[in-house]
Amino acid sequence: MQISDRLQPLQTNVFADMDRAKAAARAAGREIIDLSLGSADLPPPPHVLNAITESLPDSQTHGYLLFHGTQPFRQAAAQWYQQKFGLAVDPETEVLPLIGSQEGTGHLPLAVLNPGDFALLLVPGYPSHAGGVYLAGGQVYRMPLLAEQNYLPVFADIPAQVLAQAKLMVLSYPHNPTTATASLAFFQQAVEFAQQQGLVLAHDFPYVDLYFAGSPPPSILQADPEKTCSIEFFTLSKSYNMGGFRVGYAIGNAQLIRALRQVKAVVDFNQYLGILNGAAAALSGSQATVTATVETFRQRRDAFVEALSQIGWAVPTPEATMYIWAKLPQAWATDSLGFCTQLVEQTGVAAAPGSGFGKAGEGYVRFALVHEPQILQQAVTRIAEFLA
Ligand SMILES: Cc1ncc(COP(=O)(O)O)c(C=O)c1O
Repeated sequence: MQISDRLQPLQTNVFADMDRAKAAARAAGREIIDLSLGSADLPPPPHVLNAITESLPDSQTHGYLLFHGTQPFRQAAAQWYQQKFGLAVDPETEVLPLIGSQEGTGHLPLAVLNPGDFALLLVPGYPSHAGGVYLAGGQVYRMPLLAEQNYLPVFADIPAQVLAQAKLMVLSYPHNPTTATASLAFFQQAVEFAQQQGLVLAHDFPYVDLYFAGSPPPSILQADPEKTCSIEFFTLSKSYNMGGFRVGYAIGNAQLIRALRQVKAVVDFNQYLGILNGAAAALSGSQATVTATVETFRQRRDAFVEALSQIGWAVPTPEATMYIWAKLPQAWATDSLGFCTQLVEQTGVAAAPGSGFGKAGEGYVRFALVHEPQILQQAVTRIAEFLA
């Protein structure tokens, strides 16, 4: 049997290594405090669960769901976007439901790249962005994100021969894992660059609501109101704590939405209608739980940053996301995977190694704030013992 060459770059996965380390620590009797995944521990809003529960006995929700059947959800997504950003969106041609935003960003390269084309990606960055490019037979050009450049890519540094073959650029702010934010002015620069170079500009936007200071994070479509080249990916996983339900959507250029829909038509019939009913209720109902979720993450952020500072580990206080991006002590500066595997083995505290987000993430570790402050405090106490 032969496995395709395009899976070659997907062979190594530090998250799989971490998973094994966690399982071994658990088997050895360690109590795990898992801060390695951005999977929220908070419940979805009650009106969302009610909408799903009410759908269950309804036989109209039990069949395959073709595109027309997703209309109420698409309308809710378009309205949500219009209310938030003040730009009109056509729910028929400019919105596409997704089985989580990862599914959408993972499939997009199949819709826009020919084999050998380059995609310009942020590194460190979300692993499925590169994964999707490899599945489409594309090449990845890594735009390094450096602290001294506020974790924003420098477009002028991209070599001309790469640009000549580039078809896609993927941005994502507020950024996982660095927690950096981007301004509308930066997005305007990105749109102009994409237009000049004939690139599709994708913006992965899961942390749209999870910001703690300043003005709301901008949408890429505010910088490209005519939707000339842009497509944006939203998810219900973070704002509404619905990660396990797998629901998200894309909004943007109608040609891109149509192309992505064609890819998806080969792969899926959308998810269960009851889930889309719950998601529509989330988008169009009270947003009070979103505010409460943000407040919860703010408290956890402050508690964790303070606890780390008490043990002499100074980290920046993030303005957004549900993560802490921490520069490792010098002894671990070139081995974030070693730090994370030994930390979980010896203390039960699981974190995500920076190298898992690409080479430029080496020397860092990402903590997801998915536990209450007292558990986070316990985690830091164990980290202090480990470092000592
Ligand atoms: C940048 C980014 N994109 C996508 C996802 C996954 O979102 P979803 O649950 O909608 O697939 C995450 C989850 O952590 C993320 O950080």
